[in-house]
Amino acid sequence: MKLAVLYHSESGNTKQVGEIIAAGAEKLEEIEAKCMSIDDVDEDYLTEAKAVIFGSPTYHGDISWQMKKWLDTEAGSYDFSSKLGAMFATENYLGGGSDVALLTLAGHLLVSGMLVYSGGAGEGDPYTHYGIVTIKDGDAEDQEKAEIFGERVANKTKEVFA
Ligand SMILES: Cc1cc2nc3c(=O)[nH]c(=O)nc-3n(C[C@H](O)[C@H](O)[C@H](O)COP(=O)(O)O)c2cc1C
Repeated sequence: MKLAVLYHSESGNTKQVGEIIAAGAEKLEEIEAKCMSIDDVDEDYLTEAKAVIFGSPTYHGDISWQMKKWLDTEAGSYDFSSKLGAMFATENYLGGGSDVALLTLAGHLLVSGMLVYSGGAGEGDPYTHYGIVTIKDGDAEDQEKAEIFGERVANKTKEVFA
């Protein structure tokens, strides 16, 4: 079962967190995960993926314009309505606007008809809310949280689609 992590990243932080999330997802034997940039999408893989985890840097308290552009102009080529969606964001400063970025992503996912999953607080420690957030690429604790987040989304993907 395929899971995609789709990110925008200029200086590498969001990419690095996306790769950790994908590694976490791949801990489940039944899951194949691929982490890809919006600038280099494996279209066949994304079409086949049962779940997509979107990642964006926080720009001025929201998602990056590059991610917004991709969602507005490219996402329509895929039938996301049959997929599970989740999201993560990176920022430089605690309270730098990543929650808004996550909710912007959630809005796009909902409009496209995705089944949106937060990996959320009900799952216990580590408590994620709308999705995960790291300051830049995160400290060791945040990186562990990213891995667990990937595992949780993969588990939910199995639960929904197996
Ligand atoms: C144009 C621009 C705007 C940014 N705005 C914010 C912001 O509002 N809040 C914040 O905490 N960080 C902000 N940052 C920092 C980035 O969100 C952060 O460094 C992020 O991890 C970069 O991701 P990347 O390395 O994947 O490109 C901004 C960076 C840029 C380039």
